[in-house]
Amino acid sequence: MSRLLLLLTTTIFMSCASNAQYVLPTLNYGYADLEPYIDSTTMYIHYNNHHAAYTNNLNGALSKYQELFKKPIVEILQNIEELPEDIQTAVRNNGGGYYNHLLFWEFLTPASESKMTAKVEKALIKNFGSVDEFKEAFEKAAATRFGSGWAWLIQDESGNLKVTSTPNQDNPLMPYVDVKGKPVLALDVWEHAYYLKYQSKRADYTKAFWEVVNWKKVEEMMK
Ligand SMILES: [Fe+2]
Repeated sequence: MSRLLLLLTTTIFMSCASNAQYVLPTLNYGYADLEPYIDSTTMYIHYNNHHAAYTNNLNGALSKYQELFKKPIVEILQNIEELPEDIQTAVRNNGGGYYNHLLFWEFLTPASESKMTAKVEKALIKNFGSVDEFKEAFEKAAATRFGSGWAWLIQDESGNLKVTSTPNQDNPLMPYVDVKGKPVLALDVWEHAYYLKYQSKRADYTKAFWEVVNWKKVEEMMK
């Protein structure tokens, strides 16, 4: 777990030193920069309303136990069952929501900059047979996640890549999930992520996602 924790904590900048509360990250692009694949209104609401709410609610849950603000969010999520019982559900939902969106924004980039790196391509071919077979598995995970949740590409302790999905705001770091690993790519399949533009067509949203994936970030997370 220590290697995994180190990798993740060095990637995410939002460590909480000196009892600082968690804050919304700065986006690396404008709300309209993912158009036409992800529309600016959805981006604005998703970031300013949904992600902000998870962040505020996480801070609210942790405020009763201020010492927890000193811990990296990854460490908190990996050890939710060791938290005070009265905040476990709130941290599972809102800590998950906070961290999952933090990752999600970084896995996106304007289409002009979305180019698969050679290292990622090689890894996908090695693990799935081809890039198309990987995409097919990922799209299936997104499509078959009933209700709200996330599709993931994860890397296990042996370095193998796997596709999985989680309900609600759970993620592959949490103790509740069967398939654990380090997230290296994530897709939000909650309706709030796509309904304004795609309505009930989650599959169309998932296909559009490939146009705005930040493959450099995927490679960075694989290290
Ligand atoms: Fe979301």
